[in-house]
Amino acid sequence: MVENDIPEKPAQDLNDLDTGADALRHLLDRTGERLAGFISSLPDQPTDSSGLFDPKAEWLKAPLPSSPTDAETILSFLFDEIIPAAYNPASPGYLAYVPGGGLFSAALGELIAGTVNRYTGCWASAPAAVELETQAIRWLAEMMGMPEGSLGVLTSGASMSTLIALVAAREKHLGEELRRGVIYSSSEIHHSIPKAARIAGLAEKNLRQVAVDENFRMRPEKLREAIRADREAGLLPFFVCSSAGTVNTGSIDPLAEIARVAAEEGLWHHVDGAYGAAFRLVPELADALSGMGLADSLAVDPHKGLFLAYGTGALLVRDMAPLREAFQSTASYMPDMQTGEHYDFCEFTPELSREWRGLRLWLPLKLHGIDAFRESLALKRQLTLRAWEHLSSIEDVEIPAAPDLTLFIFRQRFSGCEASEEDARNQALLEKINRQQRVMLTGTIVDGRFYLRMCILHLRTDHSRLDEALSIISNALKELREG
Ligand SMILES: Cc1ncc(COP(=O)(O)O)c(C=O)c1O
Repeated sequence: MVENDIPEKPAQDLNDLDTGADALRHLLDRTGERLAGFISSLPDQPTDSSGLFDPKAEWLKAPLPSSPTDAETILSFLFDEIIPAAYNPASPGYLAYVPGGGLFSAALGELIAGTVNRYTGCWASAPAAVELETQAIRWLAEMMGMPEGSLGVLTSGASMSTLIALVAAREKHLGEELRRGVIYSSSEIHHSIPKAARIAGLAEKNLRQVAVDENFRMRPEKLREAIRADREAGLLPFFVCSSAGTVNTGSIDPLAEIARVAAEEGLWHHVDGAYGAAFRLVPELADALSGMGLADSLAVDPHKGLFLAYGTGALLVRDMAPLREAFQSTASYMPDMQTGEHYDFCEFTPELSREWRGLRLWLPLKLHGIDAFRESLALKRQLTLRAWEHLSSIEDVEIPAAPDLTLFIFRQRFSGCEASEEDARNQALLEKINRQQRVMLTGTIVDGRFYLRMCILHLRTDHSRLDEALSIISNALKELREG
């Protein structure tokens, strides 16, 4: 065997707990083969084969394994039975919900991080790894136009980012008075915000949904009116959450105006940029998102806008102090915490032990460079405008608002049809489109009516898949119209 050759049969048993170097190479090689096969077959894979899941499958009843199973058998089981039985968010035809990415370089970062297993809860235990993660967060803050000195923490996603921001704001503004605190968002806000409010102990009756305009953007004057009315009623307005891309229509709230209201009224301004924030990289969209830089906190999801695998969100903040005040906790057995220049991540979130999350963000940024992300996001915007123009030109297709980013809703109108019947026909339209397994859209309810929803944010969605999607949608619309 020459050096670097992968052993056909490693000397060490593959099932030993502490995998030796030869066995490791062998496992990586076999897994790499499967992954390469998965990636190269993606264009032909169905967009949704969740129906393959068999609730009566034998493996569901498998007992706790007492003896080893051959690695090849396990890989076959995973790649043949488990992975296919799902929506396919790795497919170029996945225009559903808010697509996640699946950038391989992020997965590589995760593999390295898990293998070397550095402890990044505290700076002292892995100073270089923590600094590398801090650097990736600084880069992210710079990309989002946050002021110099801004930082934050990496989280599992925007739901967790918003919860952390809300708890920090609650501690800063409300102290013991949490049941009198009032939160504001638009009526289009993501459901993770009321969920965070509930977890944070705030009163459900004190969540205000501010009216939106005809483009589904929050109306700042209505926000101001609501704050004043609550103050007069003896309540404590303290938190406003605006959207840099809502989940239903992709609308961007007037972020700078909301920031002004928040500053004048003394509220914490949090921006939910889970879906939209990364589009600040695209020059033609940067202006609409420039108000993000004025926020006290911003939730960004690299597992959406930067195409990373699920599980990487970020909370960016102008000032780390409120996070530390809310989450700091120590014990005599712990290493000394840093107070100035360096950051112990365990002091800024509910977590203590945590994976080295930063590597799966840092590695793709370093490996590909930011221009690759900018170009890919600009392409998604181009594709969206094409899709919107195409569908707008079809008779009786209603699109209530032009896309601010890469997401819009549409439906077919049927003259003389009751609202419920029209909704049912649009639901049938969605099913007809998805049944072909080349494209997957989702639906939503806006203003009480059912719409189809198209979100173009997948790493792999390109002109040719969009052409195919548009032709599938046009044909389905035609068939439905004709009866
Ligand atoms: C606009 C918006 N906000 C928040 C979230 C919640 O993000 P996560 O699933 O990362 O917790 C989502 C998820 O799709 C979203 O689209």
